[in-house]
Amino acid sequence: MRLFVALDLPLTLREALAHLAGGLLGARWVPPSNLHLTLRFVGELPAYRAEEIDLALSALRAPAFTLSVTGAGSFAKSGRATSVWIGVERCPGLEHLQGKIETALQRAGVEAERRRFQPHITLAGLDGVSEPELAAWIGARNLFRAPPVTIEHFVLFSSQLGKDHPVYTAEAEYPLT
Ligand code: 2AM
Repeated sequence: MRLFVALDLPLTLREALAHLAGGLLGARWVPPSNLHLTLRFVGELPAYRAEEIDLALSALRAPAFTLSVTGAGSFAKSGRATSVWIGVERCPGLEHLQGKIETALQRAGVEAERRRFQPHITLAGLDGVSEPELAAWIGARNLFRAPPVTIEHFVLFSSQLGKDHPVYTAEAEYPLT
């Protein structure tokens, strides 16, 4: 199973984000139903390990929090832009939850994540996009804001290859108290 832990965003926020799609040649837009904020990518694991991860996440206690998305940016690999995203406002509740998930997963035997947590919601994968067009697209959306949303649970997702887009399945949901 290919697993990741994420926030499944409320419909109102996904709709607001879906309005940002378009106007960038070479972008493969994430369908609104797939929009999410990854807290921890786990990767490919046998099913019995998924159960251990589920147990570890079930025991985790963290408070609900309010999330505000704002700002746009892109990731690049070897100098080529690979994705465009919307960021989130500094959010101690989100960072606290992410830290707890990291600890829980390590206790369940998952190798530590070395990369810094950079919360973002990927809007599109990019392939051969023009740099000036990308800069203009980001510039025009950098002041984007959506009304804050309350986050009251997080999700363990599995991901499977789909025809056009990956298919994400919520394997388990964990409440925040
Ligand atoms: P993203 O959050 O930047 O879009 C499911 O595939 C999620 O896990 C995606 O949201 C994706 O990135 C993230 N992801 C996929 N492969 C990854 C990897 N090798 N390392 C870290 N995160 C990954």
